[in-house]
Amino acid sequence: MPVEPETEVLLSRTEIAAAIDRLAAEVRRDYLGKCPLLVGILKGSFVFMADLVRRLDFPLEIDFVRLSSYGPGTESSGQVRVVQGLRSPVRGREVLVIEDIVDTGLTDSYFLEYLRKRRPASLRLCSLLDKPARRRFPVKIDYLGFSIPDRFVVGYGLDLDEKYRNLSDVCVLVEG
Ligand code: PRP
Repeated sequence: MPVEPETEVLLSRTEIAAAIDRLAAEVRRDYLGKCPLLVGILKGSFVFMADLVRRLDFPLEIDFVRLSSYGPGTESSGQVRVVQGLRSPVRGREVLVIEDIVDTGLTDSYFLEYLRKRRPASLRLCSLLDKPARRRFPVKIDYLGFSIPDRFVVGYGLDLDEKYRNLSDVCVLVEG
């Protein structure tokens, strides 16, 4: 078995739970009685989505898309591919996009524009994490859990080479 890098907790499960309580209250205040469509961007958002929606005690719908950006090396090419698109109709709906992290902003600026063209009644973004130091494409985050420094984070849905998504805390990798 290859040795996996050690991790260190950046945001504990307790801090994450408190942030999601706050976010759920904000979302409830704005969407109660509107039956919003929550759209999670896979794969990273699946844990956050599951925890958030269980704190929302009013009718809503859930769907997912799977997006992938591609390009040489680790840098974004500026292009996003829709691997699995939306099944749910968007026109006239109150749409809330659920994201685990906004980094360069490429994925969300692309996807929000993709949705905007389909004429939702409203369109907002909720992200657990924001890494503002990395931003290249402007994105407005309407509901934000945490702003974090420019460190590579894993856990709570986020991966390194598909590993670590199952950690309950948001962690940083320890060098060496
Ligand atoms: C991550 C994350 C966001 C995106 C943010 O997804 O879930 O969707 O990157 O980065 P950006 O702001 O630079 O576009 P990733 O492409 O790693 O796929 P995954 O969710 O399947 O891990």
